[in-house]
Amino acid sequence: MKEIRIMGIETSCDETAVAVVENGHRVLANLVSSQINIHRRFGGVVPEVASRKHIEVIASLVDEALKEAGMTGREIDAIAVTYTPGLIGALLVGVSFAKAYAYGLGKPLIGVDHLEAHIYANFLTEEPPVFPAVCLVVSGGHTSLLYMRDHRCFELLGRTRDDAAGEAFDKVARFLGLGYPGGPAVQKAAQSGKAGIYHLPRVYLERSDYEFSFSGLKTATINLWNKLKKNGEEAAVNDLAAEFQEALVDVLVEKTINAARHKEVKQILLAGGVAANARLRERITREADKMGTAVQIPPPALCTDNAAMVACAGYYQYLEGDFAGLDLNAFPQLGLAVQKTCG
Ligand code: KG4
Ligand code: ZN
Repeated sequence: MKEIRIMGIETSCDETAVAVVENGHRVLANLVSSQINIHRRFGGVVPEVASRKHIEVIASLVDEALKEAGMTGREIDAIAVTYTPGLIGALLVGVSFAKAYAYGLGKPLIGVDHLEAHIYANFLTEEPPVFPAVCLVVSGGHTSLLYMRDHRCFELLGRTRDDAAGEAFDKVARFLGLGYPGGPAVQKAAQSGKAGIYHLPRVYLERSDYEFSFSGLKTATINLWNKLKKNGEEAAVNDLAAEFQEALVDVLVEKTINAARHKEVKQILLAGGVAANARLRERITREADKMGTAVQIPPPALCTDNAAMVACAGYYQYLEGDFAGLDLNAFPQLGLAVQKTCG
């Protein structure tokens, strides 16, 4: 059988990433050029700066990825690129580059949904997940629970009504003075703190649906922090971080487990940057074990934005012959978060 090699290109937010993946699971190269140090001083991603930085590094990153994979562009079978959702200017850099590159090489172009790519990070392994599955996608921009009946077949069960889980981590970290990006900073603080000393709300936990809301939790955390500061109790920051993380993880885990039970799935999948969170990984694994359902979570480096996941999702599109034309455009707000892609 001929090996299929897909190049993945990802520029939807603040990481420029290029990867080469063989047969959907063998990662031959996976390079990420992060802009974290540039955006840190602003406390968040500045879209215009992100686009400009993507332009500066993308061509050399492609060269480097090919070198690492030990091949030339001609040996690639298709170019897969994230075209939605994300920052429009940032997406356009990847999409424009991929179109020109595919055209120049005479190779097929594949437009990939960033959220689908996050889910497909779970398939970058020799033992891929089995269907049906429930997928919890938790990133900086999205929090969605999806039912996955088969490859590329998603039904949206529920999503956040306001802030995404990662957004809540980032904003709380900023107010607590823990730094940027917020998720890893809160996790680190929480590791030296104790949940339960303070009490924060488990928003929507009483509801039996799969909707989420994190804005109230974020505000409650910030209000409590302001109160503690007034009383001179800044030392409590680690305990507050631990309680915030626990409140958020409680809701994510319980809703995901309920969905898995209700849909009688064979597998639970986690995806997106927040899936790198150690406490979430530990809790979901423990709860799923109790009910005898397998859990798959990509290694932390494949949970946060990368291009190997884009190449992997692109591989399954390649097998279906789902190619894009050179009129492929970038869309800031499409994506699995708002779509139902199979009946
Ligand atoms: O998937 P991702 O890299 O980018 C988006 O598609 O949004 O997710 C980034 C988000 C950020 O909000 C970041 O704070 C969060 O993932 N994150 C974490 C951890 N690592 C990254 N959140 C909690 N714990 C972590 N260890
Ligand atoms: Zn992402």
